[in-house]
Amino acid sequence: MHSTNDIRRAFLDYFAGHDHQVVPSAPLVPYNDPSLMFVNAGMVPFKNVFTGVETPPASRAASSQKCVRAGGKHNDLDNVGYTARHLTFFEMLGNFSFGDYFKERAIELAWGMVTKELGLAKDRLTVTVYHTDDEAYGLWQKIAGLPDDRIIRIATKDNFWAMGSDGPCGPCSEIFWDHGPEVAGGPPGSPDEDGDRFVEIWNLVFMQHLQSADEITGDLPRPSIDTGMGLERISTVMQGVHNVFETDTFRTIIDAGEELLKATATEDTIASHRVIADHLRSTSFLIADGVLPSNEGRGYVLRRIMRRAMRHAHLLGADKPLMHRLVPTLVSEMGQAYPDLGRAQPLITEVLEREETRFRQTLEKGLRLLDEESGDLGEGDSLPGETAFKLYDTYGFPYDLTEDALRNRGIGVDKAGFDAAMEQQKAAARAAWKGSGAAADDELWFDIAEREGATEFTGYSSTEGEGRVVALIVDGKEVQSADSGQEVTVLTNQTPFYGESGGQMGDTGTITGDHRLEIAISDTTKPLGRLHAHQGKITAGKIAVGDTVHLKIDVARRDAVRANHSATHLVHAALRNHLGDHVTQKGSLVAEDRLRFDFSHPKPLAASEMAVIEAEVNAEIRSNDEVVTRLMSPDDAIEAGAMALFGEKYGEEVRVLSIGSGDWNGSGKTYSVELCGGTHVRATGDIGLFRIVSESAVSSGVRRIEALTGEAARKWVVGREEALKSVAATLKTAPDEVEERVAALVDERKKLERELAEAKKQLALGGGGGASAVADEAVGGVTFSGQVLDGMNPKELRGLLDDAKNRMGSGVAAIVAVNDGKAAVAVGVTDDLTDKVSAVDLVRAGVEAVGGKGGGGRPDMAQGGGPDGDKGAAAIAAIKGVLAG
Ligand code: ALA
Repeated sequence: MHSTNDIRRAFLDYFAGHDHQVVPSAPLVPYNDPSLMFVNAGMVPFKNVFTGVETPPASRAASSQKCVRAGGKHNDLDNVGYTARHLTFFEMLGNFSFGDYFKERAIELAWGMVTKELGLAKDRLTVTVYHTDDEAYGLWQKIAGLPDDRIIRIATKDNFWAMGSDGPCGPCSEIFWDHGPEVAGGPPGSPDEDGDRFVEIWNLVFMQHLQSADEITGDLPRPSIDTGMGLERISTVMQGVHNVFETDTFRTIIDAGEELLKATATEDTIASHRVIADHLRSTSFLIADGVLPSNEGRGYVLRRIMRRAMRHAHLLGADKPLMHRLVPTLVSEMGQAYPDLGRAQPLITEVLEREETRFRQTLEKGLRLLDEESGDLGEGDSLPGETAFKLYDTYGFPYDLTEDALRNRGIGVDKAGFDAAMEQQKAAARAAWKGSGAAADDELWFDIAEREGATEFTGYSSTEGEGRVVALIVDGKEVQSADSGQEVTVLTNQTPFYGESGGQMGDTGTITGDHRLEIAISDTTKPLGRLHAHQGKITAGKIAVGDTVHLKIDVARRDAVRANHSATHLVHAALRNHLGDHVTQKGSLVAEDRLRFDFSHPKPLAASEMAVIEAEVNAEIRSNDEVVTRLMSPDDAIEAGAMALFGEKYGEEVRVLSIGSGDWNGSGKTYSVELCGGTHVRATGDIGLFRIVSESAVSSGVRRIEALTGEAARKWVVGREEALKSVAATLKTAPDEVEERVAALVDERKKLERELAEAKKQLALGGGGGASAVADEAVGGVTFSGQVLDGMNPKELRGLLDDAKNRMGSGVAAIVAVNDGKAAVAVGVTDDLTDKVSAVDLVRAGVEAVGGKGGGGRPDMAQGGGPDGDKGAAAIAAIKGVLAG
């Protein structure tokens, strides 16, 4: 037997052998098409290559592309489990020519693959061509030698393939396999073509045209080829079975489910087993590609698929969550072909288990309500829309789950009633919101959010992608279009631009599009916490609501922001480790060039504390641990050790970010676990370097650290080094010697100061320039010596007066020291005279003469000062005057 893995390999090897470059599957979330929920055909990743906008990886390529058809235009969800060939997840094998070969070679290659490589019997193959495509008809005759009754002309859209209403398209030719007369159904184009007997296995699209709104608007730059062969379908043919769920991969998963449930599938229960097997594949691959369950957008489609499978697990009697226990089987079947699946295995397991655990809490009650409300209904009846809404709103039943639950009883659901109930709830929410006194300009955002839903953020995994313009705002009002030169706010259905929140600044970048559109986006905000509003100026071209635009963030800036954000988490953890658990975040700013972190702590950080914190953060950086994001309920997150952030509002699920070893310092704890919606580095090593550059107070009990990472930190360090070098150059020494040299200079300066003071003193005592000569004279009957000394340190005065008193034996000495234009006055009286005359009285007169007040001391020694340094002589004269009586 040919296993599915063998067939995939054989297909890719065959085309590699025919000069095709084998390219890996693109992720399921399309980066290049805002109108698509998920990649739903092999050519989607090459859409822009066909139209000539992007350069091809090679002129010929082949791939096995992961596809999901659920939600959006191609929605196979309702049928899955109940038909022989519908799947939500499938693999499309394809070969592509980008302006290289065309129809003839495409048919030759396909025919060789089918009949030679796979060895399918020619007489069980039938082909179709577009009714006007005589060329393809002739080529099938020539290459395959098929008789006329097995080349069928089809006039309908079935043989004209288009990616969507817009984009590349062209006539196509399909190859069908005849499963044999024992299976019901007729050949393509016949009235009973919908049966399972003739099954399309391969579609060859002759890409030639471009269409817009379903109308052909032009031709592609060069005719090209896009083909698609459903791997699961060709596996049914190769494995001799009639139903995709009977092929090896599905059999293995279904067997594993039977084993876990201890329930062998019966005719009544086989559909449930099939639903679980299919949905396990789509949900696991979606999670591996970054989609996580949520209540909007892609995340909600994922949730719908998951919950649909979980109801079927419940139907089969699962007494505990089942889906996650099937992941190992899926990974062993498909992990080799898709290594990302294996890498994401822990995340897939965790997300599935959590979702199923949660959903089981309401599932049973919901089913009971459903039974009660549908008990009296019979085939052809409809469940009231309000009940379906209650199931949705209260019990978490997606609408299609309710439909699915009633399907085998032939009961429908009143969709209009469901929609009306939904509308009513929205209106009530609106009324409540209006009554809450929200700001007037919020109303604009509220209208947009209600009309368009939340903006889907694709920026955790991408830095660019396409989006559909859903609203434009100029001067605070919604407009339909905007022109070059205008300042505009652009809202798209999805975006890689992070909107400012949680302290992290919004992204900048460009929005480009048709009509030479170019908008320089200078900021992105996040009104209502759900919309991403890109603000910028249109530098060229024009933009209108409904346009598809290309959004590209400034990657270097985002990388710097990522490093700062992850470093903020690390410094938070380090602060708690070293200062204590009272440290909590009080605010933060994560910018491109720095980070700022405010936290509760009663006193300034000592230099030694900062050094330890900085060293620890850098050690975490060097350990280069992976940064892991998980989605959890807030309670689970807190239990897992996440620190709830101050002032953040949380929805029903939160992103939890863990950094560092799971057993930090033997504590059994992960280094850092925080709730965070921001963007982060892949591994701590990406931060590069961390430097604290300041620590200050914000308010009482709140401290602020400012720090740098990566290139900014490197530049800062280099700046310091440059300064050191320049100091060394001035000191005429090497940077390494600067410390020693400066210490020596400081010592030398102290010594010189001492010497200078001594020299001045000597000068003062010995007379000469700058000092008035010492001249003892008799005043009021005592010996008096008066001097004015320029540049004399006032501290020296006391010593000088003592010297003078010793020299005189009995007398009065007065000195005025003049420094920086100010005068210090001091008077000394020998002990034998203190009864007659007080130094304090004398000094007061001197102080007054130099414009000061007071002066004090003892009768034998008093001191004071005044601002008028040029009145030194007058001060001496005044003292003499008092002494003279
Ligand atoms: N793009 C073509 C299809 O999906 C091959 O059928």
